[in-house]
Amino acid sequence: MATKTILLLGFLGLVFSLALADHGPLQDFCVRDATSSVLVNGFACKDAKLVEAKDFHFSGLHLTGNTSNAVGSRVTPVTVAQVPGLNTLGISMVRIDIAPWGINPPHTHPRASEILTVLEGTVEVGFITSNPDNRLIMKVLQPGDVFTFPVGLVHFQRNVGNCNAVAIAGLSSQNPGTVTVANAVFGSKPDISSDVLGKAFQVEKNVIKQLQANF
Ligand SMILES: *[C@@H]1O[C@H](CO)[C@@H](O)[C@H](O)[C@H]1NC(C)=O
Repeated sequence: MATKTILLLGFLGLVFSLALADHGPLQDFCVRDATSSVLVNGFACKDAKLVEAKDFHFSGLHLTGNTSNAVGSRVTPVTVAQVPGLNTLGISMVRIDIAPWGINPPHTHPRASEILTVLEGTVEVGFITSNPDNRLIMKVLQPGDVFTFPVGLVHFQRNVGNCNAVAIAGLSSQNPGTVTVANAVFGSKPDISSDVLGKAFQVEKNVIKQLQANF
């Protein structure tokens, strides 16, 4: 009898831990409750009875992003920050506008893979594999073409045409996060010491100080 009880408890423990380990939602939805101060992995759920259509809605992806900036691109995000209903669902999307010869600079999404399609223009895309190969995998995309960026890998886009480019991308997290390489490395607050970066990039410290001044 005691053995049976122990086995049953063990089984229940396993089921419970599997349920906790499940990365998918365990209910229809868990709309972000913006008023809750509860700290969990994600956001606390709003009372399901108070959920409305607007919690799942966003308007504005038809609008061209302002690309008048140093890199010539603009990302318009639709993540859990804009759509509370995305909380726990593991998806989000963005619109990317790129001016002629502008770039979406090298960056990674620590929590998401990305699938991108070009709606307008000609866009060169690429990602770099991890150490030790650091192989650049690159392609020029036309409207209707689709490309995938695996989770965590550094990637970029460049408009290689003479008209504006528009792309839409899906991401496998409601909160994919973005680490822009140049901003993280040369624009950290406070600065990483120029000794560290000088050795890492194999250049004189004054080159590093010049780069840091740009961010
Ligand atoms: C686009 O951004 C630039 C730089 O911030 C700004 O001067 C300009 O007014 C913006 N244009 C529009 C249409 O918002």
